Amino acid sequence: MKKLVFLFFNLFILTASAQKFENLAQTPPMGWNSWNKFACDINEKVIREAADYMVSSGMKDAGYEYIVIDDCWHGKRDSLGFISANKEKFPSGMKALVDYVHSKGLKFGIYSDAGWETCGGRPGSRGREFQDAQTYAKWGVDYLKYDWCNTEGLKAEGAYMTMRNALREAGRPIVLSICEWGDNQPWEWAENIGHLWRTTGDIYNCWDCEEDHGTWSSFGVLQILDMQDGLRKYAGPGHWNDPDMMEVGNGMSVSEDRAHFTMWCMLAAPLIAGNDLSNMSEATVAILTNREVIAINQDKLGIQGFKYKTIDDVEIWFKPLENENWAVTFLNRGDEAQKVSFNWNDEPVVDELNKLSPHFDENTYQLRDVWQHQSAGTTQRKLKVEVPPHDVITYTLEKK
Ligand code: GLA
Repeated sequence: MKKLVFLFFNLFILTASAQKFENLAQTPPMGWNSWNKFACDINEKVIREAADYMVSSGMKDAGYEYIVIDDCWHGKRDSLGFISANKEKFPSGMKALVDYVHSKGLKFGIYSDAGWETCGGRPGSRGREFQDAQTYAKWGVDYLKYDWCNTEGLKAEGAYMTMRNALREAGRPIVLSICEWGDNQPWEWAENIGHLWRTTGDIYNCWDCEEDHGTWSSFGVLQILDMQDGLRKYAGPGHWNDPDMMEVGNGMSVSEDRAHFTMWCMLAAPLIAGNDLSNMSEATVAILTNREVIAINQDKLGIQGFKYKTIDDVEIWFKPLENENWAVTFLNRGDEAQKVSFNWNDEPVVDELNKLSPHFDENTYQLRDVWQHQSAGTTQRKLKVEVPPHDVITYTLEKK
């Protein structure tokens, strides 16, 4: 009996004192994930090549860091319950793959699920959380995407807390990416559990669409963007709203890809590419590696941008940046080009949440067009631009 009390006491202490790993994901995580392009059709060659091309394309130098392998890597559990990679698809084993990714100067992410099975029907971590966390730590994993299929009877907050505690106990700092699609409002409880949380169902490569799969839907870029409304107050360094992985390079037009990428940067969203890195057009590389736009995303303040106003089909978004600078994006959602005229001095832009304002009536800012890579006058002059359909014009505003 004494032993039992002691055991429960220890378990209580362990659970009560466990914290997520601090100091990770201080800016939105950047990387690549296999799901959007490859789904279950993955193997070690696909993952190695993603690492190779992340380096040779310049993405690594632009800030991308994590190579994340999504669903369907799993083999069976052994007689003691330990998981390993599918032997046909990953003949060298997971440890060797992690080592390879690390040898490129990158970090490695893996995928599991809080339920009995993953969404793709592979073994989930339910009841094996501490054992799986140990395995990931042993392999050298740096990031875990933790999904929410087949979780009947589980409470999301508790289930994600269990995995957080398991990772903590395993001892290796691992970013925890919560993927329960926003169903249980993770923004309200996950700040001390995970480092990012999905806010919506799955994205797919479409500008303005919803695809009905019967029991669930996937959404286009604009739908996902609209679903971020009201969530900015929950995001900040170490805990990000995640509007899902990117579809840049997966078939939308170049302007749609550019707009999608820019809005994810304005939202301080994780920048997880989801295309085939071994086969990218120049335009795709140019979008994914635009350092001036990435700098908006990676700004140290970690403030998620906000929609200031809408004029016809054009939304005007602002994002406060370090050193009293700002970013502004004119997003044309519509099918026709839109002429915009914007007299800075007359615009009372305020970030109510952070009590910040550019005070255009008192201050002058230097405009820089971060897609054209050129300066574009100051806020003293009324801006007159034409925003192409399904596209953006984005400036950083540097205080003079
Ligand atoms: C869910 C997730 C996706 C992906 C798949 C894998 O749908 O939301 O991002 O991980 O599962 O099966």
